[in-house]
Amino acid sequence: MSDPTPTEIAEAKRALAKALRVVVLTGAGVSAESGIPTFRGPGGLWKQFRAEDLATPIAFGRDPRLVWEWYAWRRAEVAKCRPNAAHLALARWMLSRPGVTLVSQNVDDLHERAAREVAGDADRAARVAPIRLHGSLFHDRCARCNHRTEGGAVDATSLETLPHCAECGGLMRPDVVWFGEMLPARAVETAFAAAGEAEACLVVGTTGAVYRAAGVAHTAKAAGASVIIVDPGQTELDAIADLRLQGKAGEVVPLILG
Ligand code: APR
Repeated sequence: MSDPTPTEIAEAKRALAKALRVVVLTGAGVSAESGIPTFRGPGGLWKQFRAEDLATPIAFGRDPRLVWEWYAWRRAEVAKCRPNAAHLALARWMLSRPGVTLVSQNVDDLHERAAREVAGDADRAARVAPIRLHGSLFHDRCARCNHRTEGGAVDATSLETLPHCAECGGLMRPDVVWFGEMLPARAVETAFAAAGEAEACLVVGTTGAVYRAAGVAHTAKAAGASVIIVDPGQTELDAIADLRLQGKAGEVVPLILG
């Protein structure tokens, strides 16, 4: 497979421009050019670390200090990164027209930061903020009473130094969705409602290996949407693609949305 041709770029641009309602699904690949490793690609997080030791409720129950140490490291690493041309192009595009729903599997807040950067004020930024299916790296949630807070620096040297809930004293955990956990109900409802009425579905930087998120693209396809995939590699959603643009998000997304 080679770089997208000008004809393919024009076709994608046309399909997205004429669709009154579009659902966009993003994964770790949209943030790769910001310096954030993906999960399953070369050097991916699940190649370096064992998900079962770090990203499950059982792992947290077994060793919350180890889990927090890892999330504190990820939080510090991601905080150094900046939205790239794909995040910014998506935010600009969504501000320029109605009818686009952005659904993200990412917990890195780069879509939100791009929205703030492009929109200039919080209300406008909120209009183009993503539906977060897997939570946020920068929020904490009480493992006992679900009280949520902004996440800060974490001292993971001992159980006592880990963040505890100001409401009930319970242990706080990163507010991300771990393997085997339910996705946030309202986010799922909004994402699948948007997919069910979409005329176009743009998929950027996801292997489509994880459900229920990958179901957003299948639901849009079943609703008659044209599915456009941007990814330098092969994905598990390629079989439903009407247009497959092989390339990096930071290079291709500005071309098809500009
Ligand atoms: N631009 C676009 N896509 C890219 C780029 C890039 N620059 N670099 C890599 N990719 C693609 C890869 O080819 C791959 O298809 O991004 C995809 C990343 O896939 P995964 O690592 O599997 O990440 P993702 O699909 O987001 O994972 C889904 O799994 O681990 C859980 O909760 C976690 O949200 C995550 C979910």
